[in-house]
Amino acid sequence: MGKVFICDHPLIQHKLTYIRDENTTTKDFRELVDEVATLMAYEITREIPLETIQVKTPVTTTDGKIISGRMLGLIPILRAGLGMVDGILKLLPAAKVGHVGLYRDPETLQPVEYYVKLPTDVLERELIVIDPMLATGGSAIAAIDVLKKRQCTQIKLMCLIAAPEGIKAMQEAHPDIDIYVAAIDDHLDDHGYIVPGLGDAGDRLFGTK
Ligand code: URA
Repeated sequence: MGKVFICDHPLIQHKLTYIRDENTTTKDFRELVDEVATLMAYEITREIPLETIQVKTPVTTTDGKIISGRMLGLIPILRAGLGMVDGILKLLPAAKVGHVGLYRDPETLQPVEYYVKLPTDVLERELIVIDPMLATGGSAIAAIDVLKKRQCTQIKLMCLIAAPEGIKAMQEAHPDIDIYVAAIDDHLDDHGYIVPGLGDAGDRLFGTK
């Protein structure tokens, strides 16, 4: 079963409180999401492998550690996932970015792909799917389906806030996926909003409401 990591560093909790606040302006919301994404990138990379190289300091030669292993790929789910990309790239500037766009078919209620553009070397990369709000889990599950259909295997999920319902659905659909969240909230309301949540992440990021 995939693990759930709660990234609850005090700085993340502090910023998340202002992200939730309905009085936070679009500009501040965007900046705070960006900052939390950077802090979460620090947590999500805690286990990445290192290798030893020799480095010559001005004084002597010594061993030092550098990052080894797979390169990273960020896969934001359109559109709210875009809000976390730059913050992660601040720590991981060499990561490539793929995009997955999904809409819900009004009749079947199933997610349908409308845009998928992935790095050409996606199979060699460890992928971080970015979906700020894990509500029912439908979009994130479908995005991971998209990646697995293309034979991607090394995938993690990064969210700002998750509902218990979304975590359960993800663990049932994709038991191999580790989930990184800043907070797990109480429940989903009848409209599929996370409670207490932060409202519609896309609208708040892009000022469309
Ligand atoms: N998507 C959002 O942006 N907010 C929610 O609360 C649920 C899904």
